[in-house]
Amino acid sequence: MSAYEYQTHDYDVVVVGAGGAGLRATLGMAEQGFRTACVTKVFPTRSHTVAAQGGIAASLSNMGPDSWQWHLYDTVKGSDWLGDTDAMEYLARSAPAAVYELEHYGVPFSRTEEGKIYQRPFGGHTTEFGEGPPVQRTCAAADRTGHAILHTLYGQSLKEKAEFFIEYFALDLIITDGACTGVVCWKLDDGTIHVFNAKMVVLATGGYGRAYFSATSAHSCTGDGGGMVARAGLPLQDMEFVQFHPTGIYGSGCLITEGARGEGGYLTNSEGERFMERYAPTYKDLASRDVVSRCMTLEIREGRGVGEHKDHIFLHLSHLPPETLHERLPGISESAKIFAGVDVTREPIPVLPTVHYNMGGIPTNYWGEVLAPEQGNPDRVFPGLMAVGEAGCASVHGANRLGSNSLIDLVVFGRAAAIRAGEVVDRAGAIPSTNRAEVERALDRFDALRHAQGGTPTAVLRDRMQRTMQSDAAVFRTDKTLAEGVDKMREIALGLDDLRVTDRSLIWNSDLMETLELTNLMPNALATIVAAEARKESRGAHAHEDYPERDDANWRKHSLAWVDGNDVKLAYRPVHLEPLTKHEDGGIDPKKIAPKARVY
Ligand code: FUM
Repeated sequence: MSAYEYQTHDYDVVVVGAGGAGLRATLGMAEQGFRTACVTKVFPTRSHTVAAQGGIAASLSNMGPDSWQWHLYDTVKGSDWLGDTDAMEYLARSAPAAVYELEHYGVPFSRTEEGKIYQRPFGGHTTEFGEGPPVQRTCAAADRTGHAILHTLYGQSLKEKAEFFIEYFALDLIITDGACTGVVCWKLDDGTIHVFNAKMVVLATGGYGRAYFSATSAHSCTGDGGGMVARAGLPLQDMEFVQFHPTGIYGSGCLITEGARGEGGYLTNSEGERFMERYAPTYKDLASRDVVSRCMTLEIREGRGVGEHKDHIFLHLSHLPPETLHERLPGISESAKIFAGVDVTREPIPVLPTVHYNMGGIPTNYWGEVLAPEQGNPDRVFPGLMAVGEAGCASVHGANRLGSNSLIDLVVFGRAAAIRAGEVVDRAGAIPSTNRAEVERALDRFDALRHAQGGTPTAVLRDRMQRTMQSDAAVFRTDKTLAEGVDKMREIALGLDDLRVTDRSLIWNSDLMETLELTNLMPNALATIVAAEARKESRGAHAHEDYPERDDANWRKHSLAWVDGNDVKLAYRPVHLEPLTKHEDGGIDPKKIAPKARVY
C-alpha cells in the first residue's frame, strides 16, 4: 500500500497529450457531447506540433491539378509499400475536408492572389501517379503551420468546454479485465496524484525522438504513450523505421523545413555540385526524405561533405527572391541566424540529416483503436484505448513518411477517433470505478523511482542510450552495428534498475520527471533497435547495407515488439493490402499501387 493519497476524476473520455492529434481528438470528443478531459505535461500551445513548419498535405488543387488518388499513390510509394492501404486511403480521401475544417475553425493559412489556401511542393508529392511533375499539395501558414493549427485547436476545444489538466504527467494506464479504464497522473506544480477514470483513453503523446542524441524533436518527445503501453503488456509496431529529416541545422539539430526546398532551395556538396540531380534525376531535391538523407550521408562518406571536417552539406536559399524568404520562410530565416549564424539571403545553411519522426508506434486501426494482436486475430481491438498522431501507428506512413503527411495524419485521425468513439462508447453506461490495485501498482513504481538510490544519474544513462541509438541505429545500418547496438542497449536498459534520483520532492521535480521519461524512452529505443536488427531487408528509412534490396516476399509485414525490462519479443502481422473502396465503386485501381521499384 503506497503512502500517496489521490483525487479521482470521472470522464467519458480522457485524452493524454495536447499536440495537434490530442487537441483534434479532444475537440472532436467534446463536439460528440462527451465529457472530455485533456491531460498534458506541457501547456497545449507548447506541444511539439508547434515546431511543425512547412505544412499539411491535402489535394485541394489550389495551385494546379491534384487528386486524392495521386496523394494516395504518393503515400503508398513513400511508405515503401508498408503502409496499410485502408488507412492510407482514409487519410488521402479525408484530407481536403479536414483542411477546410481547420480553415473554418480559424487557422490563418497563407493565401494565393485569389484568396485560396496557399500550397507548396514537398518531397515525394507528385502528379499523375508519379509520372508527372511535383505537385503543390502542402497547405501552409508561412513556415509556422503547426503553430497556427495548435493555437486554433486549443481555442476551439475550450469553446467546446473540454477540460484541460495542464502540467500533469501521465504515469501509467489502468487496465481492468482486459480493457483500459483510466490513467494515473502526477500534477507537476503541486505534487498531487490524480486518477482519471474513463470509458475511453486516447493516447496522443507524440514520438520518441529524444531516444536519439540529435533530433529535431522537442525535449518533451519521450514516447510516454509507448512506454505506458509496453508496461501494460501491449506491443509496439514498426519501430525500426525512424525518419531522418535531411535538413537539421548542423550542430543544433534545429529543423529547417522541407518547404525551403519546396520554395526552390537546393543542396550542394563540397564541389558545389547539386548532387541530388545525380541520385534522383526527376524530383532531385524533392525526392522523399529517406532518399535525400541517404544521398547526403553518401556524399559525406565519400569525402564530399562541406566544412572543416567535411561532415555536413549546404542548403542554398540566397537565390530566392527576398519577398519569398520574408513571406513564406520567415521562421527558418530566423532559426538559421540564431542557430548557425547564417544570413540566408547571402550564405548557405549548414545542414545534416537529423532524427525527426517515428513511423512506428502503438498499433491501431484507421479509427485510432489500439490493437492487441493475437494468434489468428491480428486486428483484435483492445477495448477502452485509442492512440493517435505520432504516438500511434495506423499505419499510414509505413517505412517512410512523406513531409506534410504528419500534420494531416494528426487532424484526420484525431477526428476519426472522435467519430469512432461516438459509435463505440456506451453513453448511458457508468464510468468505470477506480481500480485501486492498479493505481497502487502505478504508485509503487512512481515511489520506487522517486527514491531510487542506485549509482547512475538519469542524465548519464540517457546519454548512453542516445549515443548508442545515434551510432548503431542510424541512417545506414549493418548486421554488425545493429547486433552491437542490441547488446549495448540491453545492457543500458538494465541500468534503469540502478538509477539515482537526488531530488525527492514532489513539486516541480525535473529530476524525477526526466527519470520517468527515461523509463518511457527506453522501451521505445529497445524495440527500435531489436526490430531493426531482425529486419533483413532495406525498406524506406531502414537502409540495411547487408540487405540493400526491399524483399516483399519475406518482409512486407509489420513488426510487433513486446518489451519487458530489457527483453524484447518480436512477432509480425500482415499489411492491409485492400483499399477501403473498390475500384468499381470509385476507389483507386489496385494496379496503380502495386509494388514496384521506388525511384524518384
Ligand atoms: O520540413 C518540414 O516542414 C517538416 C514537415 C513534416 O515533417 O511533415
